[in-house]
Amino acid sequence: MYLTKQEEKMLAGEEGRAVKKSMEILVALGRIFGADKLIEISSVQVAGVSYHNLGDAGLEYLNELAKDGRVKNNITATLNPAGMDLKDWKKLGIPDRFAAKQMQVIDSFRKLGLEITCTCTPYFIGNKPKPGEHIAWSESSAVAYANSVLGARTNREGGPSSLASALTGKTANYGLHLDENRKAEVLVNIGSGVELRTVADFGALGHAISRKVKNKVLYIRGIKKAGIEQLKAFSASTATYSGTALFHIENITHESKNTEAPKDKVIIENRDIKESYDFLNDGSEPDFVSVGCPHASLKELEKIASFLKGKKVKKEFWIAVSRPIKELAASKGYVKVIEDAGAKLACDTCMAVAPLKGRFRCLATNSAKACYYGRGANGFKTRFCSLEECVKLAVR
Ligand code: F3S
Repeated sequence: MYLTKQEEKMLAGEEGRAVKKSMEILVALGRIFGADKLIEISSVQVAGVSYHNLGDAGLEYLNELAKDGRVKNNITATLNPAGMDLKDWKKLGIPDRFAAKQMQVIDSFRKLGLEITCTCTPYFIGNKPKPGEHIAWSESSAVAYANSVLGARTNREGGPSSLASALTGKTANYGLHLDENRKAEVLVNIGSGVELRTVADFGALGHAISRKVKNKVLYIRGIKKAGIEQLKAFSASTATYSGTALFHIENITHESKNTEAPKDKVIIENRDIKESYDFLNDGSEPDFVSVGCPHASLKELEKIASFLKGKKVKKEFWIAVSRPIKELAASKGYVKVIEDAGAKLACDTCMAVAPLKGRFRCLATNSAKACYYGRGANGFKTRFCSLEECVKLAVR
């Protein structure tokens, strides 16, 4: 792999130990995946923020980097959700010991120069790359959204490699950074009788496709309309269940007009969507309701507030959201309505990365991805339904 003189110096340690370590990671990845060179990036989103996932070994690694590493100028660098609300963790029932460790993790990221905005929807809060920009993001739903909806270019990075990109301003030139790897590989025809309306429907669609196709660039035909919330839900579901990091939806997503529909095809009919709903529903009476996976938009908070107005929740109900979107929602009065009803805005975190094991039995959610992590990481049964139905279950 070709390295410039400057990159050779960085690799040799002339810009410090953190840069050296970061270059080693990027060069190793580049060699494994056959990259010809390193390229400049403009934006980073770093996963591996929850102490629940990092543990002491991860914290030690960050502390080591923070001794002399800093995010390069001109790079927007934000974080994935942490294991708790960074201000109101007590209200979410997070133990003090966990909170202390989580704050050490955050301090290390702060020293490294990352923005302490912990969210999987960075594109709602200013980390929104332009079409064609090379970036290094690591949360899988954000990666699929950035590639497909925004038209930016990123591989599905790990936490350490995206952090390495933040500290060097570079990534290896392979995979989805290259035109030839962004071409669609499989055509997904959505049957004319399939009605996709809610966010949950789009999550079910991602799951239904995953039962027929894995790890391919998709070209999807037959979706008439999809808003930002539906696209983020689909990004999360297809990334989780299919491993998809890029999809093209005809007449909707950024690169679909320049992409040829492939010959290989699969068809999705109503029965496929129904089977996915059945699969994602293995629970009956939830004791925990959680929406905002990926983190809620302002429009979703507006909807939740309208469903909750004048009601009281009877179950633990979390709405995961980034802090800037919560603040915007507060200025419009949605937060007051939601909190008056007894629901909780879980800022900076979500039900998958918070330490929740053993606290609940059955999760109700409108996110297909949340079902995966609720079951896998926390052993919950899951009830998968629309946002409106989730709110009804919370107040019942
Ligand atoms: Fe985001 Fe957590 Fe879902 S990181 S995509 S809210 S599992």
